Amino acid sequence: MSDVRIPILVDCDTGIDDSLALLYAVASPDCDLVAVTCTAGNVDARQVAENTRAVLELAGRSDVEVAIGRETPLERPLVTTPETHGPRGIGYAELPPARMPLSPRSGPDLIVEEARRRPGELTLVTLAPLTNVALAVQRAPELPRLLRRLVIMGGSYRSPGNTAPTTEWNVNVDPEAAGIVFAAFGADSTRPLALGLDVTERAKLLPDHLAEIAARAGCSPDGRGPDGRTNAVIRYLDDALRFYMEFHSRYDRFFGAFIHDPLALATAIDPTLVRTEPVTVDVELSGRLTTGETVADWRHVWGRPPNVDVAVAADADRFFERFIERVGDLAAGR
Ligand code: BDR
Ligand code: CA
Repeated sequence: MSDVRIPILVDCDTGIDDSLALLYAVASPDCDLVAVTCTAGNVDARQVAENTRAVLELAGRSDVEVAIGRETPLERPLVTTPETHGPRGIGYAELPPARMPLSPRSGPDLIVEEARRRPGELTLVTLAPLTNVALAVQRAPELPRLLRRLVIMGGSYRSPGNTAPTTEWNVNVDPEAAGIVFAAFGADSTRPLALGLDVTERAKLLPDHLAEIAARAGCSPDGRGPDGRTNAVIRYLDDALRFYMEFHSRYDRFFGAFIHDPLALATAIDPTLVRTEPVTVDVELSGRLTTGETVADWRHVWGRPPNVDVAVAADADRFFERFIERVGDLAAGR
């Protein structure tokens, strides 16, 4: 591993797998977590900001700036998903109320200002509906050229959806925002890297993975150590993931969980975790059955230049090795 730390700005809707991505970012020596912006999605934006700060505090990073963005999608009412992530977005977990203050900046302003402050350096990783990024790019049309790269967890390009038959949650919540972002970042040099369900459903976390993380932290999977004390990070993982795994066993017929967002975060740090193909993508905004679908023109029938590098394969084994090692070591140190 190189000793270069990649400056990363995360936009999320924390959310169980978002929280795991935040832990992975904090645990990664090759990631410099610059700030986190919060978007409404899995839960409302205020709860997202609460969860995000509580998780960063759990990980010992109360110094990271956390900003809240617009609290509703651009044109549609907000729909949240308590059945997937629990009523507060972190499953059965209980975290102490966040103490760190919210940033006085708005999410979109923060994105624009940080990108302007260090042109060409920042990687923006979105793990949520694209509302904040759409507003940021409307405010600063030069944003695509100011970022080093945009990495998106969103869409399903060759596989079924997880919200409607052909739509993925993050795009489904705010399809207009996704349309704006895909169009704005379309030029060759600024093509975003998108991880859709095609690859993120390869990141299937199982109870054995959790046991390995706990063992690395020197405790049992419920967080109890040999000295009788509880490891707060492992306890959090166990309580949050039990809910997420129960959801997947109901809807996806396996006791485990797709951890979409950590794979996207890990890929932003190390793009060799996925193989991509350039393709032209547009978002359906007015379908009877398909609003929010990321329509990918694999056969070039539109004759338009590609605007997205879509991940088509992922090295899930290498990802899990790193996830277990890094999050296990983070937990061991808390
Ligand atoms: C995405 O939807 C959310 O529920 C997850 O956090 C992830 O970002 C997967 O479709
Ligand atoms: Ca998310």
